[in-house]
Amino acid sequence: MAAAKIAPSMLSSDFSNLATEAQRMLDCGADWLHMDIMCSHFVPNLTIGAPVIESLRKHTKAYLDCHLMVTNPLDYVEPFGKAGASGFTFHIEAARENWNELIQKIKAKGMKPGVSLKPGTPIEEVYPLVEGENHVDLVLVMTVEPGFGGQKFMPEMMDKVRKLRQKYPSLDIEVDGGLGPSTIDAAASAGANCIVAGSSVFGAPEPAQVISLMRNRVEG
Ligand code: DX5
Ligand code: ZN
Repeated sequence: MAAAKIAPSMLSSDFSNLATEAQRMLDCGADWLHMDIMCSHFVPNLTIGAPVIESLRKHTKAYLDCHLMVTNPLDYVEPFGKAGASGFTFHIEAARENWNELIQKIKAKGMKPGVSLKPGTPIEEVYPLVEGENHVDLVLVMTVEPGFGGQKFMPEMMDKVRKLRQKYPSLDIEVDGGLGPSTIDAAASAGANCIVAGSSVFGAPEPAQVISLMRNRVEG
């Protein structure tokens, strides 16, 4: 079984104090920092780009798990590699024509490739990306429509996680959207090992408790 990774989504942090917020999450036991990159074409929201990753990288050695909700992910590979991103997860809906080239370029820039899918996209679409010679290291199953934090977890997405886990016992399977103490069991029992959580962690009086509770549930 792949190791548990708890990844607070910095989208719920105070962006005016990003470095401090990142360190606070690491001190609370976070394994990764989840960075939500949105262009307003792929989703109806706009967040941060490579310059912010570059600034944050000067303050931390942490694994920066970048989730690119953008229309042209290929255009972002070079700048994100230079900025110091650790993981580069693109959406299959934005890369149906060029995912093979994209994976190669992400690896060539020293980042870990990942693929994400929206709730409406069937899981079978990502199998070729997990199995190819140039394969992704992680599949991110969206459990809300991408675009905003604080939405409700979609339990019906757990079928996708179960199918993936059955096929790929050691793959990193990440879930993102509406995860917290009340939904972690569904995700963990389906086989997710990487847990993104924004509002449940940042909104908690003791984020460390939420992080450790989720880690315990994943580790079973
Ligand atoms: C949504 C983002 C998520 C989001 C999660 O498009 O990909 O990472 O910030 O936030 P919560 O945990 O509040 O649903
Ligand atoms: Zn995300």
